[in-house]
Amino acid sequence: MSENVYSPTPEFSSRAHVPSMDAYRALYEQAKEDPERFWGELAEKELFWFEKWKHVFEWNPPFVKWFAGGVTNACYNCVDRHLTTARKNKVAILWEGEPGDQRMISYQELHRLVSRFANALKERGLKKGDRAIIYMPMVPEAAVAMLACARLGITHSVVFGGFSAEALKARIQDLEAAVVITADGGWRRGKEVRLKDAVDQSLADCPTIHSVVVLKRTGSNVNMQAGRDCWWHELEANLSEVCPAEPLDSEHPLYVLYTSGTTGKPKGILHTTGGYLLQATMTMKWVFDLREEDTYWCTADIGWVTGHSYIVYGPLAAGATTVMYEGAPDFPAFDRFWRIVEKFKVNIFYTSPTAIRALLRQGEQWPKMHDLTSLRLLGSVGEPINPAAWEWYHRVIGGGRCPIVDTWWQTETGAILIAPMPGAVPLKPGSGTLPMPGVLPEIVDLAGKPVEDGKEGFLILRRPWPSMLRNIWGDPKRYEEQYWGRVEGVYFTGDAARKDKDGYYWVLGRVDDVMNVSGHRLSTMEIESALVRHPAVAEAAVVGKPHEITGQAVCCFVTLKKGDFDHDKLGLELRHWVGKEIGAFARPEEIRFTEALPKTRSGKIMRRLLREIVTSHTVSGDVTTLEDMGVITRLASQHDDD
Ligand code: WT7
Repeated sequence: MSENVYSPTPEFSSRAHVPSMDAYRALYEQAKEDPERFWGELAEKELFWFEKWKHVFEWNPPFVKWFAGGVTNACYNCVDRHLTTARKNKVAILWEGEPGDQRMISYQELHRLVSRFANALKERGLKKGDRAIIYMPMVPEAAVAMLACARLGITHSVVFGGFSAEALKARIQDLEAAVVITADGGWRRGKEVRLKDAVDQSLADCPTIHSVVVLKRTGSNVNMQAGRDCWWHELEANLSEVCPAEPLDSEHPLYVLYTSGTTGKPKGILHTTGGYLLQATMTMKWVFDLREEDTYWCTADIGWVTGHSYIVYGPLAAGATTVMYEGAPDFPAFDRFWRIVEKFKVNIFYTSPTAIRALLRQGEQWPKMHDLTSLRLLGSVGEPINPAAWEWYHRVIGGGRCPIVDTWWQTETGAILIAPMPGAVPLKPGSGTLPMPGVLPEIVDLAGKPVEDGKEGFLILRRPWPSMLRNIWGDPKRYEEQYWGRVEGVYFTGDAARKDKDGYYWVLGRVDDVMNVSGHRLSTMEIESALVRHPAVAEAAVVGKPHEITGQAVCCFVTLKKGDFDHDKLGLELRHWVGKEIGAFARPEEIRFTEALPKTRSGKIMRRLLREIVTSHTVSGDVTTLEDMGVITRLASQHDDD
């Protein structure tokens, strides 16, 4: 594990929202000692309320209400309230399509677009309490659709545009949605992703859907079913740009976002309004240290929670300029991200370790082609970042001058919960560092007993926080069992972690990623990290494989950097390498070379699938979030050649 520590520079700290460790600790203590006062004051200062709440929170485990009795509106907070300030002509959304088309939408214009589209939804008979599915490419209208729903109190569920018709159908049915908002298609690696076709396929058994609104994006031919389907531009052609935001209860369901669980059925994670928005807004300042003049870019897709909280709701509530990019990072070439950073003079850049490793693999010549000096802060999310990728990101992308905020959170947590405040907290590559104010993590064993510092255990959270999920849609029992029933009375994250002597958290991965080899606890992450330190290795995924003698054995799936390698020789070398890096007990039993690793659409390696491959050589369960089924087929059949 890397021992490097990067302290904030005086230059960065002097201008930061939270400029010192003392300032961080003061905030943390206030939130811990008097959460009602802490969050109450922030809610008053940071958000607009039609009516003030009666109680900051009401905790009836495992159900919580934040700002109970308060009346607000997420869309009003993201758009309307900026119009009376200097932000009214500020760019809200700075967008680039994959083909290179571009749009700049000011807060005033966003207000008009959202209001008019809200009127279009009304025209189709939609109202507060209804559910809308949003299945769109990364175009500004995707954000407009989300905000228009929020404006009217329609609960939205964004389904990532890469999902199949089958996955879309399951979500529509579970949510009993009334409308699908979609587009003819979108662009991905130069090809059209035909969204409307998938919608048509999915709707066969979806009786609750009465309307499909279709944005013209690619201009290709699509079927339009009379009575049900209508074009976005035709629907809103003569509609007013005035549509008041609906006053909504603070606990009004803002959105449901589906995520894969351990069973085959995806879980609909429910987020509500006031608390969610407050924590998303605060973390924009605490973690991203957002300044009025910043251009901020989160590369996620709005189909994931990162896109919800850190492309749309957080940045817009905080009055930021948020960049949106439609396409792939490697199209038309591996410098697309850096090209956009240079062009828009991006100051804050937030992406995933997977993207970083993929770009690292292509070499430094791509970022070197561009002026990246506008960057001031970098972020990472979605999985642990291995120190080697961290150092590359820091040196090559950040020019050695930008702090990296490694942000730990989950679809369920709604907002970032463990991350450095970059002007205050010294960084250690690979650690999410310290908890946000109001977040009380602990590392415990299954009985809920805290484990010693430095020891691995389950990461739990002791107290409800404002942006916490409120339920699993239609399944409170699963919510209760899954999150609050594993360890008595606390929120179970499903992650393994350890806390070091400085109180820093090191998230090691999902609990089911922990292996036990000869009675030694091994983290897949630790071995992966060792493997990617080897100069030939691009990416690695490690799983436990049943073993007669040692219980489990370490099995590694490895992708290589460009070059000619003798697989037999390199396999042996890598086994020794891991043994040398970690200890002989961690030496892998098996190294399998592969062209690609199976990943979810958000870029997380699906170790569950790899585990199934090494255990049973077949794959079952929910694979709807999988990026490329071909990888699985190839990996599963590889065994036959062994
Ligand atoms: C799981 C949540 C958070 C939005 C995107 C993913 C892992 C996430 C980190 C990080 C180590 C991380 C955890 C977590 N994870 N961020 N910075 N360091 N692990 O959301 O799909 O709900 O996944 O991602 O294992 O539980 P998600």
